[in-house]
Amino acid sequence: MWKGRFSQDTSSLVQQFGESISYDWRLYPHDIAGSIAHARAQLVAGLLTAVEFGAIEAGLRAIEADIAAGRFEFKTSLEDIHMNIEAELTRRIGPAGAKLHTARSRNDQVATDTRLYCRAAIDGLFGAVAGLQHALLGRAQQYAATVIPGYTHLQRGQPVTAGHHFLAYVEMLERDKSRLADCRRRLNVCPLGSGALAGSTLNLDRHAIAAELGFDAITHNSMDAIADRDGIAELLFVISLCGVHLSRLSEDLILWCTAEFAFAALSDAHTTGSSLMPQKKNPDVCELTRGKTGRLVGNLMNLLIALKGLPLTYNRDLQEDKPPLFDSVDTLRMILAVNTEMIGAMELREDKCRAAAADPMLLATDLADYLVTQGVPFRHAHELVGQAVAESIRSGTPLDQLDLAAIDPAYGPGAKEVFSVERALAARSNPGSPSIANVRAEILKWQAVLT
Ligand code: ARG
Repeated sequence: MWKGRFSQDTSSLVQQFGESISYDWRLYPHDIAGSIAHARAQLVAGLLTAVEFGAIEAGLRAIEADIAAGRFEFKTSLEDIHMNIEAELTRRIGPAGAKLHTARSRNDQVATDTRLYCRAAIDGLFGAVAGLQHALLGRAQQYAATVIPGYTHLQRGQPVTAGHHFLAYVEMLERDKSRLADCRRRLNVCPLGSGALAGSTLNLDRHAIAAELGFDAITHNSMDAIADRDGIAELLFVISLCGVHLSRLSEDLILWCTAEFAFAALSDAHTTGSSLMPQKKNPDVCELTRGKTGRLVGNLMNLLIALKGLPLTYNRDLQEDKPPLFDSVDTLRMILAVNTEMIGAMELREDKCRAAAADPMLLATDLADYLVTQGVPFRHAHELVGQAVAESIRSGTPLDQLDLAAIDPAYGPGAKEVFSVERALAARSNPGSPSIANVRAEILKWQAVLT
């Protein structure tokens, strides 16, 4: 493609070192869509005849069909997807193919292809995240009234419902969807026409090209457009954060599946056994989700570090943007699919949840709140209840069976009534709190939102 200036062939080691066709072949549908839009603008500008344009369009569509069918032979010597397609087009249709690259560079071509790839990837991920929200909503509905201890510092804190716990993840995923949509909006801008870095002396209709490719707008600075990989970085961040959310869900489920917690059971289809210990049932999907999230974060770092020292505009380092991008999209897609299936099939062990939620210590805060209603300042109430907790631990008498009036007369006869988990939950009725009525209302809201 650049033979005019050179008198030696590229070393085969350099070819191996520099090729990207082994992974960027995946851009082919976007590369072809971009080339057809570009050729149509050349036609309108009078740079191609209708016959030439027809040959280019048909030739590109035939190549697309061959690649899709696995019939296309990619050549490492042609470096990347852009040159593989262009060279094959010219081989098939002759001189018209050699006109396609007029007023274009691989720099604006790859920037365009990558944005189109990201846009399609975002649309796929958005649907997959919504699918997992549905699965979580199903469990929230099933266990809307199942009380479990809520934890801080992984120590039992206060009663919540499992429904509230599942809905916490629905909230996180909703924010992930909103970040995906936001990222899509910012990257759906067409860089084609920016050329190598300074546009072209042959001016094509950039707005028409952008419209044909479904972009919302065109970029306004050719140098920025060539050097910019913000959209990829943003997408890698959004994917990382979604992975982090699912890694936290994984950790919850891993704990819940231990004999020590025993709140949950994953299905046989979503767990693995041990080759040695016959009793084992391991939450590998959760562990792999947690483990693969490290890759997602690593991919984000990979790109940011590649970008941080680059002068304007294109530098070959930018070719390194695609392996982390493809890997993160593929990995999150898989994580979402397998977790959706697993959450759909999991069950809670309600007897174990009930037993854990019956711990009267979970209502120590409620006892302090009760004292506040009796006129005791909260700091003093906290101390009084702390003394009762210490006495309970010292004497081995459960908190709800202590003679509280003997500890302090401020405890009136109503103190005993604090020790009802049902009452305690029902009292948590402020918006955002886990009363069963609130959780059911939230479920109805999500069912309407997540159609
Ligand atoms: N394969 C290259 C990439 O992914 C395409 C752009 C090449 N441009 C260049 N000036 N060498 O970045």
